[in-house]
Amino acid sequence: MPQRIPPARFLSGSISLPGDKSISHRYAMIASIAEGDSRIRNYSTGADCHSTLNAMRALGVPIEEHGTAVVIHGQGLDGLRQPAADLDAGNSGSTIRMLSGLLAAQRFGTRIGGDQSLSQRPMRRIMEPLGRMGASISARDGRFPPLEIQGAALHTIDYTLPVPSAQVKTCVLFAGLYAEGATIVREPVRSRDHTEIALREFGADLRVAARTIMMQGRPTLAGRDLTVPADLSSAAFFLVAALMLPGSSLTVSGVGLNPTRATLLDFLTGMGAEIRITDVECRDGELVGELLVKSSRVRGGTIEKETTAALIDEIPVLAVLGAASQDGLTIRDAGELRIKETDRIATIAENLRRMGVRVEETPDGLFIGGGQKLHAAELDSFGDHRIAMAFTVAALCADGESVIQGAEAASVSFPEFFEILRGVRG
Ligand code: S3P
Repeated sequence: MPQRIPPARFLSGSISLPGDKSISHRYAMIASIAEGDSRIRNYSTGADCHSTLNAMRALGVPIEEHGTAVVIHGQGLDGLRQPAADLDAGNSGSTIRMLSGLLAAQRFGTRIGGDQSLSQRPMRRIMEPLGRMGASISARDGRFPPLEIQGAALHTIDYTLPVPSAQVKTCVLFAGLYAEGATIVREPVRSRDHTEIALREFGADLRVAARTIMMQGRPTLAGRDLTVPADLSSAAFFLVAALMLPGSSLTVSGVGLNPTRATLLDFLTGMGAEIRITDVECRDGELVGELLVKSSRVRGGTIEKETTAALIDEIPVLAVLGAASQDGLTIRDAGELRIKETDRIATIAENLRRMGVRVEETPDGLFIGGGQKLHAAELDSFGDHRIAMAFTVAALCADGESVIQGAEAASVSFPEFFEILRGVRG
């Protein structure tokens, strides 16, 4: 559906955002194999996290939803049942990759697939370690969904991640829950650590030292009451829009500030953004706080090496900011962006060009010159939620009304995006 986006003068007010997508997936999967009930507040409203809930239901886990609170009646480590039909991960790479870790250890076989975009995403990265742990998995053309997973009694692994991926790390740790002894995962580049935090909250014996995670298998996980922090990656769209629109002042409350995610805030403030962080507290092992952002002139900069991995989901909206920044933005080491929900290097470059922005595409990055004007244009999400929202932000800062095709893709992670935006735009 095409969505018309007139330019905004400024953003002002105070917003609270739905629950973090990464944390919601993890809580739902771990609560399902815990003993007893878990109550999860502020569960993500996005379609991806509902793909996870529906997959867990299909695996025999009773789940109730009361608004954004979810009650999961955990079945214990060995309580999942063979589903009556194929599991559907929808658009969600997190669902298929992380859940495969649990499926690999079951005494039954499952088939799990998803939509057209997910069916093009690489799965060798999980098939390889799970195969080494003893599972038998086949995939379309040896690497794409759907996956056929024949569960087995798994053994432990000492695994060094070849790609910086929290989804792969989680998959291996979830499989390791079922193996007798210690599973070790080594991370050359640090990725988000919500799984490590959540597993500990549910009672697993897991230690982390110098980017090495050691977890004992066969724990007894106990149901918990938890609250999901607001999603910093969703907040990123509002932060960037407020920075770019003169006269903006916006407060975002209850946002997740986990240090493996908050590189975004360091990067923005390092470029000159005025962002104040207050009311920081630790809730269920995760840092949470309030952000106050004011429109600012930002210098621009370079995103490369570990910073690229830490900002991977925010690069679409940072690219928009880069065009308006003083010195522009260079993005390197971002080959992973080509295998997200879309080839994001291509979809970012295409939309920027439609707005009249000069942009250079490289095999693993982008160069976007600074001080450029964003011109109203006909834009396209290409079915990718983060592209839909990043280019809505670009449209807010353009010189006339833009149209975005496929804007509804935003609901994959953030169904309330347009409604919340209407409430704060001046
Ligand atoms: C996620 C990890 C990242 C990220 C994705 C969510 C997670 O993917 O891009 O949106 O929740 O673990 P990779 O693990 O493929 O880097």
